[in-house]
Amino acid sequence: MSGAHMSKNVLVTGAAGFIGSHLVEALLARGDRVVGLDNRELELARAHAGYRWVQGDIRKASDVEQALREDTFDTVVHLAARAGVRPSLIDPAGYCDTNVRGTALLLDAAGRARVGHFVFASSSSVYGARDGAPFRESDAVDDPASPYAATKRAGELLARAFHHLNGTPMTCLRFFTVYGPRQRPDMAIHRFTRLIDEGRPVEIYGDGGSQRDYTYVHDVVDGLLRTVDRPSGYRVYNLGTSQAVPLHRLVELIGASLGRTPHVVKSPAQPGDVPLTCADLSLARSELGYEPVTGIEDGIAKFAAWYREETAWLASSR
Ligand code: NAD
Ligand code: UGA
Repeated sequence: MSGAHMSKNVLVTGAAGFIGSHLVEALLARGDRVVGLDNRELELARAHAGYRWVQGDIRKASDVEQALREDTFDTVVHLAARAGVRPSLIDPAGYCDTNVRGTALLLDAAGRARVGHFVFASSSSVYGARDGAPFRESDAVDDPASPYAATKRAGELLARAFHHLNGTPMTCLRFFTVYGPRQRPDMAIHRFTRLIDEGRPVEIYGDGGSQRDYTYVHDVVDGLLRTVDRPSGYRVYNLGTSQAVPLHRLVELIGASLGRTPHVVKSPAQPGDVPLTCADLSLARSELGYEPVTGIEDGIAKFAAWYREETAWLASSR
């Protein structure tokens, strides 16, 4: 076993978001000091002595600089973004503003502040609409299927450029459809759970055969912590589960976990969506020691349990 953890100073952008909130909890639990830059507050960390919130927008240079002045940071984990795939077709310029211009502002300021390591939240969407799974980090990623995917690839390239310019260690993590407690309500697992629980129809896009490598948030956080602890040149890693789950199977699993029969309605496949994602994990295994432990059956059962608790709590506090 490794020795005592050396406490780190970490700036997390998007700290109040789904993945950010889990990462902040895990960093605080191991004794790190965390500054969260987000335009909304992370309530669960409000009272924690190791956490400070800078209310700000990554699109504003003065907010970014203020956050970086809060401490001398060992690591910046950059999660703040417009994160939905399909809505990026409606507001492509807005996505570029946050995900590309905001990332450039942060990378530039982080270099000047001499942060020790910059970790960028990239996405499986950079692999585009393709078959031939699993996807490896060395595969071509020059054919994005949505403006969102293009902004994530742009973020990786900006990180590469700033690594070249100032030598800051940079790690890009390609997350594969993450789920778990506090998942964004617009994402499929959360949305389907709510609709099935309420006895309402579930709208699935396409014929139900599209597949995703769904990844439990605790596995992603484990990969993030391992990354935070290993600054090393410019690196790109997949963080997935390497299990491609068809959409119809996902709906069945959610129904079974709730003890309800889903009422499925089919809609056309959505522009911007890819038919398949599936991560090759060899590189993350060998260089980070990453090993996901939650398969889809367990993960959906855990998600349903969280959902039940959450709805019971909301009902009792009304
Ligand atoms: P989320 O929307 O729950 O969290 C994003 C957070 O960023 C929010 O708290 C939001 O307030 C904040 N934010 C957005 N724009 C901001 C701005 N201009 N200034 C300051 N704060 C801003 O999203 P998430 O699902 O937790 O995703 C986190 C990151 O991981 C994103 O970069 C996303 O693209 C990436 N990612 C997510 C998934 C997934 O399945 N959830 C998969 C691949 C990549
Ligand atoms: C998710 C995240 O939202 C992105 O932030 C992330 O970058 C991406 O994963 C990734 O892995 O890179 P997505 O895979 O579209 O994007 O996640 P969901 O919204 O949960 O959709 C999962 C599947 O369900 C997709 O096939 C989608 O078409 C389908 N879906 C979604 C439906 O059939 N119906 C819905 O109402 C919603």
